[in-house]
Amino acid sequence: MDKTHKLQLSKEEMKHYGYQVIDTIVDHFDTEHDKKPVAYASREEMDSLFNIEVPEKATNYQEVLDFVVQKVLPNSNIVSHPKSYSFVPGPSNYVSVMADTLATGFNIFSGGWAASPAAAELEIVTMQWLLKLFKFPVKKGGGIFTSGGSMANLTALVTARRQCCGDDFSKAVIYMSDQAHSSNIKAIRVLGFKKEQVRIIPTDIEFKLAINKLKNAIAKDRLEGLQPFCILASAGTTNTGTVDPLHEIAKICKTEKLWFHIDGAYGGASILSKKGSQLLKGIEKADSLTINPHKWLYQPYEMGCLLVRNHKWLSQTFTEKPEYLRDIEGNTSEINFYDHGIQLTRRFRALKFYMSMKTFGLDAFKKAVSYSIDLTEEVESYLRKSPDWEVISPATLAVINFRYNPIGKSYSEKKLDHINQKISKQVVDSREALLVTTVLQHQIVLRMCLINPRTTINDVKDTLHLCESFAREITF
Ligand SMILES: Cc1ncc(COP(=O)(O)O)c(C=O)c1O
Repeated sequence: MDKTHKLQLSKEEMKHYGYQVIDTIVDHFDTEHDKKPVAYASREEMDSLFNIEVPEKATNYQEVLDFVVQKVLPNSNIVSHPKSYSFVPGPSNYVSVMADTLATGFNIFSGGWAASPAAAELEIVTMQWLLKLFKFPVKKGGGIFTSGGSMANLTALVTARRQCCGDDFSKAVIYMSDQAHSSNIKAIRVLGFKKEQVRIIPTDIEFKLAINKLKNAIAKDRLEGLQPFCILASAGTTNTGTVDPLHEIAKICKTEKLWFHIDGAYGGASILSKKGSQLLKGIEKADSLTINPHKWLYQPYEMGCLLVRNHKWLSQTFTEKPEYLRDIEGNTSEINFYDHGIQLTRRFRALKFYMSMKTFGLDAFKKAVSYSIDLTEEVESYLRKSPDWEVISPATLAVINFRYNPIGKSYSEKKLDHINQKISKQVVDSREALLVTTVLQHQIVLRMCLINPRTTINDVKDTLHLCESFAREITF
């Protein structure tokens, strides 16, 4: 009888399939450095490779796997490559990749205690590790793993709004700097706030939220009968790695009775280093804090995290009790994470964090984070010694911004923008490094985010030499 409706491979086929997948992943980790980090393909090229009608009939599994290994995987940037400097790279680690494979293989439902006590317990335990690291109250505090930083910020703002405004948020106002991450603006839009309910506070010369301007904005809003309810600070902006003045913002939140949310999606992990924990002082005062293990805590996608000072804030915001979940409620110590966030069905994200921490040890994570901060400072001093480069924003956490501006040439600002944009384009076109621009104080600059612990100073020097050789060929 035809058994294709069971969607199964034989045991031997599964093993054959699986071993090849593992070999492919191990090869990738092993040879990553020798590959080029940038994939570039047009829509037409991708369409011609992949765009087919839904396949009605079966294809041999080996054929499908070979096709994916040869055509799909190489057509993606390698964000864990040592020369992938742009955005926030995803260095990842093999143990967590295997953990994700196990979690997916067993298809563990990580929504409620009853479906997997072990998954819920590991989320509780790893959350407690994180609460402790950030000096949040461990007993009273809580949190949830999310798909990423955007979802953690959204979850935080839903909670803040619920706790501060209840159902009527028509007069509520939220404050953040012009350097806050775009995911926060998206979250605010998703929440149904109007544009007029968001105050974008300018930053100072160091890209920090300007405290005086913040105080003025709050005072003015109060005079107008509005309801300030939340200040959102950045602990490591994406552009420059800048940490907002957390202590001062905490003080304002206390006096004004406002919710204090910190977006530490990029920089939060630097708490693991001495230099980072110095910069992040005051982070422990937040009501809610986004961190993002799939960035600088080396987890593969997708893993974000929201921590809160009081776990009840989450359950008060997200608990719904439909009749079909009645039988699995359990007791209150047995957390159902579907009551702490937006998702009901959730993958088992805690496993990869747990397994990688246990395998490598926190000390290795601390060394890795410190290494990247030191490397970024080394890059800064290298750039400062060069006649060709100008540092635009200094090494902060693991981000540095700079531009090609050779001494003695006196290029106009317009020409410098043109040169630096072109350098980036040529580097990316060469596929040798992922190095894109950002805009700081109206200048086009090259930005490096050096959180990959496998990136070396020689990788960076290679890339800078490549940039210099392209720059010298640019004609006007
Ligand atoms: C400061 C900051 N917040 C939020 C995010 C969004 O995180 P995700 O891309 O995981 O949704 C990022 C991403 O780079 C970020 O740097």
